[in-house]
Amino acid sequence: MQAICWKNGDIMSAKEATISVFDHGLLYGDGVFEGIRFYHGKPFLLDAHLQRLEDSARAIALEIPYRRCELAGAVNEVIAAFAAPAGYIRLIVTRGVGCLGINPKHCTKPTVLIIADRLAMISEAIRRRGARVIVAATRKPSADSLDPRIKSLNYLNHIQARIEANHAGADEALLLNAQGHLAEGTADNVFLVKGDELLTPPVSDGALAGITRAAIIELARDAGIAVSIRSLGIYDLHTADACFLTGTGAELIPVASIDGRRLPQCPGAMFEVLNDAFHALIAHECGGGE
Ligand SMILES: Cc1ncc(COP(=O)(O)O)c(C=O)c1O
Repeated sequence: MQAICWKNGDIMSAKEATISVFDHGLLYGDGVFEGIRFYHGKPFLLDAHLQRLEDSARAIALEIPYRRCELAGAVNEVIAAFAAPAGYIRLIVTRGVGCLGINPKHCTKPTVLIIADRLAMISEAIRRRGARVIVAATRKPSADSLDPRIKSLNYLNHIQARIEANHAGADEALLLNAQGHLAEGTADNVFLVKGDELLTPPVSDGALAGITRAAIIELARDAGIAVSIRSLGIYDLHTADACFLTGTGAELIPVASIDGRRLPQCPGAMFEVLNDAFHALIAHECGGGE
């Protein structure tokens, strides 16, 4: 199955899709992106992703040269060109080609890339047994230096945390912010279960406003589960009944242990309810089972 790429209006194999060494996305991480799943040939929650992309771009004064309906059309074109009905889309908008200096004023045309490929982020074995996570020493930059709502191409501190997880033999790392409040995982949001309550950190503590996170909060409230969005710390991690991660790539992944301490429940009853509800939502939005 060949990865496909749409680049500024043209569709080609991903291998043929190259970018300039002067692209500021490469030189400075100057750009924004979205990761979008598709099931049964249909993008899941596409409008929410395009809204977040537009907001991220506006926040860094990057004008996307396509209207939302044009981008939606391009995403569907890429999905149609991809050989499989389910997979992953990476939609990237960089500042475009400029010169070696940092000043973005020389970048006159953003580069827009839409890549479709298979998703190979989480193994089924981890999904079944639950993820072993660590709390990284690498901290999340504070929201007043880089707003976590901007889904930018700058992931270096998340990569540092991921390297810590790799060195520890763990499956994922959780990041705290400078105050020691829980923010999120390296590519996912985090939820804790305590008694009958579902807990998740606020965006102001450094969490991306995850689209899966928002869906889970809504599904939980619809199911009558009390959801508390509040600051959480190491104490909450160590005293939780269960923990799980959410994200477009991750969907829902139960956590088995944090820093070697086993969670009392994995996945736990609340996870099962929400996981079923999430897959029902996918079927409702994209048709069929996945
Ligand atoms: C840092 C980070 N947090 C959370 C998420 C989950 O967000 P979403 O559910 O919108 O995919 C992602 C996914 O890309 C991410 O990169």
